[in-house]
Amino acid sequence: MVFKKLGIASDHAGKDLKKTILEFLSEQGLEVIDFGVDCNSTESVDYPDYAAKLAEAVSNQKIDGAIAICGTGIGMCITANKYPSVRACSVWDEYSSRMSREHNDSNCLCLGSRTLNHYRALDIVKIWVETPFGGDRHRSRLDKVTSIEQKNFKTN
Ligand code: RB5
Repeated sequence: MVFKKLGIASDHAGKDLKKTILEFLSEQGLEVIDFGVDCNSTESVDYPDYAAKLAEAVSNQKIDGAIAICGTGIGMCITANKYPSVRACSVWDEYSSRMSREHNDSNCLCLGSRTLNHYRALDIVKIWVETPFGGDRHRSRLDKVTSIEQKNFKTN
């Protein structure tokens, strides 16, 4: 496994898929913290609140990876990428999952509960947690991403 400690969260749209993924990862023996324990009903909530909890924990190195689920995965992805060091990827199939790890060293997997069935989502998750970063030419490209982040996310 690539990750030692994962976080997971969803909005109301993703709560059932979150439960399925949590059970699957626990069966695999992975430590997973649920950052959305207050979001387990169908009551409508706002995805940025949950993406922020997860992304902040990745950014502060409290966890080394996160799985964020909303209707499309897109809102979670947009929000999570506002945090330093977070490389959130909205992934839709097995290939994009593998590439997000091998090429982009993704540390936040964003999934759409309304675009994926649970079987496919679990295949995506399995690949994502098992695929190491490829390094090499991909590292220098990610270094460029980091320098863009440092230049543009300056707060002072
Ligand atoms: C909620 O209806 C929906 O907008 C949200 O789950 C997500 O898809 C946003 O990107």
